[in-house]
Parts: sequence; C-alpha cells; structure tokens
Amino acid sequence: MSMGEKTNAEKVFLRLHRLGLIRPFVRYSFRLRKEILQGVHYNTDMVTNQMTYVDLITDSFKERALPQRDFQSKSAFESSFISLADTFSQLFGYRYSLPVSQGRSAELILAKVLVKPEMVIPNNLLFISTRYHQILAGARLIEIPVVEAYDLNNDSPFKGNIDTEQLEGVIRKHGKEKIPYILIETAVNASGGHPVSMENIKKAHRIAKEHNIPLILDACRLLDNACLIREREQTYSQKSLKEIVLEFCSYTDGCVMSASKNYYVDTGGFIATNNEQLHNQFMDVVMVYGDGLSVRAKGKLNAAIQYPFKNERIINDRVNKSFYLWKKLEEAGVPVVRPSAGCAVFIDTHQLSEYIAPDQFPEKSFLVHLYLKSGILGSENLITTGQDEKGISMLRFAIPLKSYNVRHMNYVAKHIIQTWEERKQIKGLKKIYAAPCQSGKFLAQYQIIE
Ligand code: F0G
Repeated sequence: MSMGEKTNAEKVFLRLHRLGLIRPFVRYSFRLRKEILQGVHYNTDMVTNQMTYVDLITDSFKERALPQRDFQSKSAFESSFISLADTFSQLFGYRYSLPVSQGRSAELILAKVLVKPEMVIPNNLLFISTRYHQILAGARLIEIPVVEAYDLNNDSPFKGNIDTEQLEGVIRKHGKEKIPYILIETAVNASGGHPVSMENIKKAHRIAKEHNIPLILDACRLLDNACLIREREQTYSQKSLKEIVLEFCSYTDGCVMSASKNYYVDTGGFIATNNEQLHNQFMDVVMVYGDGLSVRAKGKLNAAIQYPFKNERIINDRVNKSFYLWKKLEEAGVPVVRPSAGCAVFIDTHQLSEYIAPDQFPEKSFLVHLYLKSGILGSENLITTGQDEKGISMLRFAIPLKSYNVRHMNYVAKHIIQTWEERKQIKGLKKIYAAPCQSGKFLAQYQIIE
C-alpha cells in the first residue's frame, strides 16, 4: 500500500467521523491533563469538552458541541415557514405552545404567571433550575416521589412515579387555591433518571382533574421516559414513541421542555398548554422578556423535534448504551443506582466517604482522579435538598445522543471500574474559593490534600 492510502477500517472510521457520528480518539497526555486540572483548580465542571477524551458531564447540547453537522441550513430554512406551534401540537398534542431559548426560560414563564407567595408545588423531585424558579416566585416545594426513589438499590421499574396517596393528602391539607400546579418531571434526573409510568400519570391526572389543578410536565427527557415505558409496561411494548408520547401528554395540561437533550439542537425549549387564557398570559411574558430565538433557530428547532420520532433508533440507541455501560459496571461490583436509566449511568457514592472524609468532597475527588487517569469526565448529580438531608449522593455519567460508540463505552467502563477499585488511594480536596452566591459552588476552586 502506498503512503497516504487508507485501509478499509480507516476509511469507515473517517467516513463516520466526517459525518460527525463519532468523536476521534484523541487523548491528551497525562501531563497535559494534570496541567489542565491545575488550571481549573481541580473543578472538573470547568474542564471544557475539547479537553476531554470522553465527556459525560451532560447530555445537553446547550452545553456541548452537537455530534453531527447542524441540520442542513436549507431544511431548517424551509421548515421555518411551517408553524413551529403546529409541529409541536402534532407531536405532543397540546393546543398552544411557545418556543423559547431553553428549558429554564419556560420554567421562568410558568412560575411568573401562576405562582404566588406561600403556594405549594407537589412534585416528584425536580431539576435544580426548575426548583429555583418555584422558590424565587415564593412557593414551597413538596417532594412526594414514591418512597423507592430514595432507595438507590431498589429495582422498581418506575421510581420516577409520584406518590398518588401523598398527592391526595397534600391537596386535602393545603387546598387547591394554594396549589398552582402539580409538576412532574419525566425520566427524573435527581433520583437517577427513573421513568414515570403511564399508569402513574393517568392516576395523577385523575386526582388533578378531580380538584381542578393543572398537571404540568417537565418534558425534558420525555422520549427516554417513553422508551422505558415501552420496555417496562407490557401494554405499550408494541407502540411507537409517538403514540406513547401523545398518550402521556394527553393526561397533562401543559409542559415546560428543554429541547437540547432529546433533540439535535443546541438552542431551544417550549412552554405549552391546552388553556387559551394561560397561553395568552405566557405570550405577554414573552413579549416583555423575548423568546431568545432567531427565525433560523426556530427553523432548526422545527426540524429537530420531528427527527427522533421518524428515527426512533437514536433514542433506543442511547437507552441501550446506558444499559450496556450500567451492566458492565454492575457486573464489576461498582454500586450503580438501580435499575438502569435511559439517559445516563448513576453511581451511588455513599461508600466513598469511608475512604475520603465527607468534608473533602469525595465525589469531586473521584472525578478528578478519573479524569487524570483517563480523560473521562462525569459530574456530581444535582440532587434536591431533601435527598441531601437523607444522605444521598450520586455521580452521573450522561450519555449524549449519538456522540459515542461502544468502544467509548468499553473504555469508560474500564476506567470507572479501575478508579472505583483504587478509591482507597484517592486524595481528598480542600475548597479554597467559592463566590458567596448560590451558583458559587459551580465555579469553586479546590486544592488536592497531599
Ligand atoms: N429540566 C431538566 C430535567 C434538566 O435536566 C434541565 C437541564 C433543565 C430542565 C433545564 O433546561 O438547560 O435547557 O435550561 N439539564 C442539563 C443537565 C443542564 O446537564 O442535566 P435548559
């Protein structure tokens, strides 16, 4: 073979890489990774995607590069002439919708319009930004997931469910005037990516309707949730994602949604409702604050939200990869959160504090050690205050859509297992600076305790 000629394997690899289907295996040296860690003061959240070999910090394309070339500008341009609201209604069934720049903008609008001080919001454990919007609007969160959600070792298939008995109790106690809505997250990130069953959303719907309280979804990872319903709820085993999603949404009155986790898009979210008056109020907020989207961004969003319904395998693939990695870790004795989730692998870290003192940031220390050894990044899972008080802590290794292949998963498994086995040797961290505000911890600086 002459110089420059490529083997078949190389050709296939290059073709896939050119299509953006897999990241090249380019790994910085150990010395460089050490310097990078020193440069970010051992805060792995600050290590950029480009400096990472396998980046499993987040599955959000808002925070990371899209794996594939953007939707062709032509198709995005064409689809911008089709109403985005119509596309959204067709896919999710809500009568009215507004596109916004990201999930938390939708959360802000919802809370601004409906929440008044002293109100309470029953929920099944929410994402940090969702929680803050309710709190900033003066409400109190009442966390009532099923009790298994707090047991990381329990194998129940639907640990994302809301406890419907407790929900009735909360409504009896506070009265419907004090409850602007019931908020249910799908594929609940805080408890370990667990799905909400169709049976549970139906029950929650019945209760909400009886008391005339809106039931609102955080539909951020609704497609992973739908995929797990198909796997775990017998009646749905032959249904398409579209059918499952439409039925699921039909039991709710509206949703807020970040589009950058389940769809190939780095900007976008939605707020949707079946109530015209409410929609008008949402529109008024958007008029004041803006939707943060260009015409082009709306066109891309239009094309992006249709894509996984026509190509279900991209969602199935991520659910399968999550399970593949989860199984490998489980078999090697790493304490994975049970059962497997659809969008990430979570590790129960309470054992780490036997080796690294709790005030020396055991989870962060683990992540530093792992990155140094392998170039892999994960994150501390963002749990709720209630979970924290129960002594729960987790690491999250998010599996972004279509970004990594099985070779990457094997590599990740090997290094997480090794790091877990080396946990006795991991050095703790000392915090040396954090800005005195809520978000300060995300930018905090640390030192290794030698
Ligand atoms: N809801 C959930 C369940 C989320 O996971 C996120 C973001 C949001 C809402 C907010 O959406 O980023 O578009 O404003 N999750 C990212 C993550 C950041 O890594 O889990 P956004």
